[in-house]
Amino acid sequence: MGVDVIVFQIMEKVLVTRRISENALAFIKNSGYEPTVYTELTNISQEDLIKMCQGYVALLSVGPNKIDERFLSACPQLKGIALMSVGYDKVDLEAANKHRIPISNTPDVLSETTADTAFLLMLAVARNAFYMNKSIERGEWNFFDPMQNLGQELYGKTLGILGLGRIGLEMAKKAKAAYGMDIIYHNRNRNEQAEKEVAARYLSFDELLMQSDVLTVHVNLTDETKGIFNKTAFSKMKPNAIFINTARGAIHNEEDLIDALQNKTIWGAGLDVTNPEPMQKDNPLLNMENVCVLPHIGSATKETREKMAMMAAENIVAALKGERMPQVINPEVYEG
Ligand code: DGY
Repeated sequence: MGVDVIVFQIMEKVLVTRRISENALAFIKNSGYEPTVYTELTNISQEDLIKMCQGYVALLSVGPNKIDERFLSACPQLKGIALMSVGYDKVDLEAANKHRIPISNTPDVLSETTADTAFLLMLAVARNAFYMNKSIERGEWNFFDPMQNLGQELYGKTLGILGLGRIGLEMAKKAKAAYGMDIIYHNRNRNEQAEKEVAARYLSFDELLMQSDVLTVHVNLTDETKGIFNKTAFSKMKPNAIFINTARGAIHNEEDLIDALQNKTIWGAGLDVTNPEPMQKDNPLLNMENVCVLPHIGSATKETREKMAMMAAENIVAALKGERMPQVINPEVYEG
């Protein structure tokens, strides 16, 4: 009599810290791994994340959890961590290299969408759009007054970009096409492609502050850029200047921004990112005429979130197969 042998294959488990697209989860599953989604709609504390990760060999991280020395030394079994974001300011790269854990992000697929959000804010601030909308709710739309509700034009103005990379370049292209804006920028390194494509001119940070009519921020949050928009920076900007931040809230000092707006040092601000997040509903910025605030929706379209989730899933699967993560941010782990 023959004996049937049943082989149980234990699938390696991937922890996914938020709901993501079904297609991305199916891709992980069909590749032979088991994704578990943390479905509670709250942030996971660092301590709980460390505890939860113990049973997993890979992490698809969505949201604000820190991937720092404490986390990495407590989870050395992780074969890879895929962030579902382009920003990786929460990652301690040195610690990741030390523990030889590859980490990936989701560049490129969100550049146009995030630039759309910056553009949306630029125009909304220039025309006081959010405040005007709220004025209807307050019953303030009474009669047509040609001297009221006046915004400012963007045609032919100067767009300053701090961080002219992929997202900054998309913003520059839109601003140039829509309003013929003159593009100036400041980066750590010059972007020659952008200089050719949109005739962008490289300036020092101070010159950028002094010459921009709209100043849009697209740099990573680093020790160098943290709080770079402070009282001193705002004091160098034009009184008609519009400040746009779709990168990270900690790049501007919120108190200094509020002062600059209240004292009319600058004209307006459009923020998709705040410090802290979420912004509290009694924040004075929410009641200012020339301020538009959005709840960190930079890349939030169905199409883009789908692409980001798939990219993160592909990186996770590569790591689990022992292959190089295509969007690895610490390639040093593959060297030597
Ligand atoms: C990003 O991709 O970095 C977005 O800001 C979401 O965190």
